Amino acid sequence: MSSVFGFAIILSSGIAARGNAGILACEFTFTSVSDGLFYVFNGNTGRQGRPPHQVLGIHFRFSGILAIDDRDFAVAFSVRISMAPGRVVPKIGSQYRNKNTRECARNGILRIIPMNIAYLNGVHTPLEKACVSVLDRGFLFGDGVYEVIPVYGGKGFLLDRHLTRLENSLAATRIENPHTRAQWEALIDGVIRRNGGGNQGIYLQVTRGSAPRLHAFPKDISPTVLISSQPLAIPLDTTPAKVITRSDIRWERCDIKSTSLIGNVLLRQESTDAGCLETILVRDGQVKEGAASNVFIVRGGRVMTPPATPALLGGVTRKFVIELCATANLPLDETDIPEDMLRDADEVWITGSLMGILPVIEIDGSPVGIGRPGPFLERIYTLFRRYWQDFT
Ligand SMILES: Cc1ncc(COP(=O)(O)O)c(C=O)c1O
Repeated sequence: MSSVFGFAIILSSGIAARGNAGILACEFTFTSVSDGLFYVFNGNTGRQGRPPHQVLGIHFRFSGILAIDDRDFAVAFSVRISMAPGRVVPKIGSQYRNKNTRECARNGILRIIPMNIAYLNGVHTPLEKACVSVLDRGFLFGDGVYEVIPVYGGKGFLLDRHLTRLENSLAATRIENPHTRAQWEALIDGVIRRNGGGNQGIYLQVTRGSAPRLHAFPKDISPTVLISSQPLAIPLDTTPAKVITRSDIRWERCDIKSTSLIGNVLLRQESTDAGCLETILVRDGQVKEGAASNVFIVRGGRVMTPPATPALLGGVTRKFVIELCATANLPLDETDIPEDMLRDADEVWITGSLMGILPVIEIDGSPVGIGRPGPFLERIYTLFRRYWQDFT
């Protein structure tokens, strides 16, 4: 087992003021690792009930990380002080001297925030310290595959399906699968635990590995494996989305979850530039999917989604929603959807592992159906929430 000793000091000082009332505040962050779990204990000695104060002034930051033997132990300490003129600055951390961290957490004084710990080729490390070679074929060619897995209540949601798709993507790209199913599960669980459980988005990437740059597969190469985590702020978000449509400029194997995503990136940026959430892609007059989502429509009392062909990614959420429709007795067709039909739909939904199932209320500036989430989606949400509650 490899481990790290980490030490960081962050000092910033300046003036904090809200209106006429000066605020005394002192914040500290203490990071520790025990049992392989990294935690950040974040405290604030400022007066309780105050909104967060603004810190103006000079910031000083020092951070470093040091590997020591094989003991799983790391400590980091950081201090941030802010003050208003004319007030006495309290001693750093004085409020906590006689309190243990659990009590502070219960009282709401102390927030426990997990750090972002990633797994890279056998080592757990803070994400910002994770490095791969510039000769990695993921970097040079986008020669890799990936998965994004939602985690609810500390458990990977529909994990089996994500791992099946990962295995399929690796086989399709002829990248050696470095792990058994059980090993993948253990590695993912390790990252989930080190990031504090709860709700997260796991990002898992496997590239062909590092070698001198030649297009053909190098011999004797071992895959690069990265597993990282991001917080999942709003699980089961239902915020309505506005989208645009664009011609699908991608390759013909969109069923492979490849890291070569420049087409998707350019297409998604167009919706971002237009102030919209997603770009729906149309090829030969037929709707295929979103830049990073699948598409469903409701029309004439039937749910429809384009069939899973190489022209689109067979989304895990897409399949799950198809099953929810069956449970809800909603008739569903996996069928071609001409662009006109999309614009004329009663409801449009987009689905993805981290976005969940979102109602689309506007396409290219025109409202969809009644301009708000429709009754079919409400039924799906009811089932989804029930499933989610049972799962967590
Ligand atoms: C192109 C594309 N289609 C569909 C999806 C939805 O797939 P899933 O539900 O498995 O997240 C994604 C997710 O990232 C995607 O990138």
